[in-house]
Amino acid sequence: MKLCMIGTGYVGLVSGTCFADIGNNVICVDVDKNKIQNLNSGIIPIYEPGLEEMVKRNINQGRLKFSNDVSQAIRSSDVIFICVGTPTNKKTNAANLKYVFQATNKIKTNLNKYKIVVTKSTVPVTTGDKIESILKKNKFKSKYDVISNPEFLREGEAIRDFVVPDRVVVGTKSKKALKIMKSLYLPIIKKTTRFFSTSRRGAELIKYTSNAFLATKISFINEVANLCEVSDINIEDISVGMGLDQRIGERFLRAGPGYGGSCFPKDTRAIVTLAKKFKINLSIVNSVIKSNENRSKILLNRILKISKNKVKNKIITFLGATFKANTDDMRESPCLKLIPALIKKGAKIKYYEPTGPKKELEKFKNVNFSANVSEATKKADLLIIHTEWNEFKQLNLKKIIKNKNVIVYDMRNIYSPEKMKKNGIKYYGIGR
Ligand SMILES: NC(=O)c1ccc[n+]([C@@H]2O[C@H](COP(=O)([O-])OP(=O)(O)OC[C@H]3O[C@@H](n4cnc5c(N)ncnc54)[C@H](O)[C@@H]3O)[C@@H](O)[C@H]2O)c1
Repeated sequence: MKLCMIGTGYVGLVSGTCFADIGNNVICVDVDKNKIQNLNSGIIPIYEPGLEEMVKRNINQGRLKFSNDVSQAIRSSDVIFICVGTPTNKKTNAANLKYVFQATNKIKTNLNKYKIVVTKSTVPVTTGDKIESILKKNKFKSKYDVISNPEFLREGEAIRDFVVPDRVVVGTKSKKALKIMKSLYLPIIKKTTRFFSTSRRGAELIKYTSNAFLATKISFINEVANLCEVSDINIEDISVGMGLDQRIGERFLRAGPGYGGSCFPKDTRAIVTLAKKFKINLSIVNSVIKSNENRSKILLNRILKISKNKVKNKIITFLGATFKANTDDMRESPCLKLIPALIKKGAKIKYYEPTGPKKELEKFKNVNFSANVSEATKKADLLIIHTEWNEFKQLNLKKIIKNKNVIVYDMRNIYSPEKMKKNGIKYYGIGR
């Protein structure tokens, strides 16, 4: 099948490459000239395990192309995937659909024959209806189907999630489009994968409710961690004990610095705003948003408490800056709130991040990137394990921490408090 991915970011690039890998001819397009130029020279703009090799293999086999010529790519394809960003509109908290409609207008002027237009971007309920009405005025008077096929991949595990998904959700009334989508996904629909078809609006909502539910799980366990901290209970035991109940499940039940990234924060805000439009109060999701926003204040207070309020001129080292491991994505990473607050209190920040220095942290005075863990931890007064990268899981902390006064604050509960105590390390985790 000839596919066009509009938007070559985390979703467009990964899903386009995976579709090429199962035998389709895919052209990934983007308005970002630099990105496309880099991709055409073999430079992958994001960090995603396994992606570089897959991109190169599919380019070499002639199934995967990159281009800035959006119009030509649309004209020569049968299925067009809209994979552009839908960030928060800061004024309204709704999803900003500017890029989606820009892409739709491009499709409208290049709809030279029947095509399926698929929204893979996370879009509010009724966006498909709006796209459909824009396309009605296409100059070739071509037929088309607008369907919703939300993407559930997780950064850091994106290829695996795309190739072995729990479910593929397709929202459409069109039998023809459904048949084509089913055949497109056939090679990756395994015994464990359910191909679920529903209405277009239903598919749009499934994506938002899934993210809102996962965000709720995270915020729930984070609040329980606060309770554990003051009642001498280990939150890890609570997570395991609860997670063993199959109705609950163990995933997304690990206490930490709060959810971040490019999806949960913006999608929780967007679903609440969308519901308001329909005069529905999603009070639970609203509380989750507030709870997560409050998380950084709780963590900051905890840092001050364990440092006995002495952070002025102290060196605080962050291990990991991204919002989670195995990605270079800094969008809404918890450290983006913690670091400025600590600088304000006079701290000096050093950080090591496996995917390199971050432009988001460049603007701050007194924030310096270190090239490795030992460089970053040199002379540190407080060591914060912020992201659960594998390379932070086996550190010889006793060797790293030569000065006995160094405090370790493990925001991912990687290490055992008992072992740390045995080694004479001043160690704090989350909820234990
Ligand atoms: N990142 C994730 O883990 C993830 C997972 C599931 C769903 N989603 C959803 O997928 C969508 C895309 O997310 P992302 O993280 O890939 O975004 P991104 O910001 O990484 O990439 C979007 C790309 O679209 C390009 N673009 C914008 N307007 C364009 C246009 N008119 N024509 C061509 N290209 C255009 C941008 O230049 C950018 O490269 C969002 O709605 C997001 O919520 C993301």
